[in-house]
Amino acid sequence: MTTTFQPSPPQVAQPKGYPMIGHALDYRLNPLSFYRQCAQYGDFVRLQFGPHPVYFLNHPDLIKAVFVTQGSSFMARAEGRESRFFDPLFGHGLAVSEGAFWRRQRRLMQPIFQRSHLADYGDTAVAQMQAQLDTWRTGDVADIRPKMTQVSRQIVGKIAFGDVGLAHLDSLETVLNAALQEYNNRDRNWLLYLMPEHFPTPANRRYHAAAEAMDRWIYAAIAAGRHHNPDTGDMLCQLLKVQDETGQGMSDRELRDELVNVVVGHDTIADVFCWAWWQIAHYPDWEARLVEEWQTVLGGRSPNMADIPHLPCTEWTVKEVLRLYPLAWVTGRVTTQDCEIAGQPIYTGENVVMCQWVTHRDSRFFDHPNRFYPERWASDAAKRIPSHAYYPFGGGPRACIGQGLTMLEAVLLLATIGQRFQLRPLPGQNLVPYPGPSFSLRPQHGLQVQILAR
Ligand code: HEM
Repeated sequence: MTTTFQPSPPQVAQPKGYPMIGHALDYRLNPLSFYRQCAQYGDFVRLQFGPHPVYFLNHPDLIKAVFVTQGSSFMARAEGRESRFFDPLFGHGLAVSEGAFWRRQRRLMQPIFQRSHLADYGDTAVAQMQAQLDTWRTGDVADIRPKMTQVSRQIVGKIAFGDVGLAHLDSLETVLNAALQEYNNRDRNWLLYLMPEHFPTPANRRYHAAAEAMDRWIYAAIAAGRHHNPDTGDMLCQLLKVQDETGQGMSDRELRDELVNVVVGHDTIADVFCWAWWQIAHYPDWEARLVEEWQTVLGGRSPNMADIPHLPCTEWTVKEVLRLYPLAWVTGRVTTQDCEIAGQPIYTGENVVMCQWVTHRDSRFFDHPNRFYPERWASDAAKRIPSHAYYPFGGGPRACIGQGLTMLEAVLLLATIGQRFQLRPLPGQNLVPYPGPSFSLRPQHGLQVQILAR
């Protein structure tokens, strides 16, 4: 691995594509291997998706330029049918807003992710997980993905809305599943994007009805919160108190949108555990080290945020899992003004794309890049990894607002589960990373495990 590096000369390579569609078909057939192949052309590659040029950037310096140094020349999302499809869910929340409105909302949201609150969220996560573990029996065979999805929705329901969220878990479940289902349909058949968003296909009707049902109880919870001004510690009760510099708080609609963005963002977390248990099971020496860490530090009690500095092997495991399986495996930006990256002009409205899946497995930045090797994150070794070579949570001002919560939850829950159970993957499975729907890199068929008490 080189510790000092230079991007390949900033000349733009362009792989051969098909007339009219350019590289769209190659991308559709296998997005992960498509970007891996593009990387062989250099660090700055010009692609063509139909009429749209897209620049694929694959070097930490170029990625940093887009996220940070020249970040003001880019916005996160293009307006399009795909983004409008998500309107009933995301509304104008952080993940999809831009400009001054995004800045205001991000400032108002930031405090609810502060360390002082994370400790409580961590306790909630561990308590929900322990309750789920109480139902597990040694010898059970199960797909771990739906189990972790269920508990992660309980966690975010409680963190975001308190007991009201737990009472309406079915509603959250229905809307998230309906959105994913309909998005999946559209992902498989792009012609569906030509339909108006409200065209009443059965799946589309289910999705809109589910979103409306969810909105009803969320607005009722907001109204109740405004009336009683409770101090329940959940995100809703905290957000009811925030004010911008003009003394203005969030409107009902803004509260609803931001909390739903949190719920949707959180849904990715379940996949971390599938990949983690899959890897851990293949490295018994590492698993033994983890078990020793949990026994020494926790001795059977529930972990909390104060334990994190004493659980380094668990934390390295999570980081390494997110390197090999970055759930947000690709990140795009659109230029809002003409700019230059590494001397190459990129014009207003053109797209750039950075692919975590490719950069995270680049041998220039990571020794034995395809190997699960958590110790690479031990502090001395980690210093040699260039900034922006590892970006599972994006980067710059728009980096994931849930990053701290994700790391905390993943470490605490891994330790909570691992102290009580060993998850042994059933033989004959090959976990294939599947890039969709909703751009999460998930194991396509889940992970079947046998659950064994430790
Ligand atoms: C493994 C879990 C997660 C991964 C890999 C992940 C990844 C990301 C990435 C890469 C971005 C930046 C997207 C961009 O640059 O366009 C992002 C943004 C965001 N994430 Fe996450 N995320 C995770 C968990 C969460 C959680 C737990 C929450 C909520 C609690 C969350 C809420 C958000 C929100 C609201 C944004 C938009 C931030 C903004 O634009 O200001 N994410 N996430």
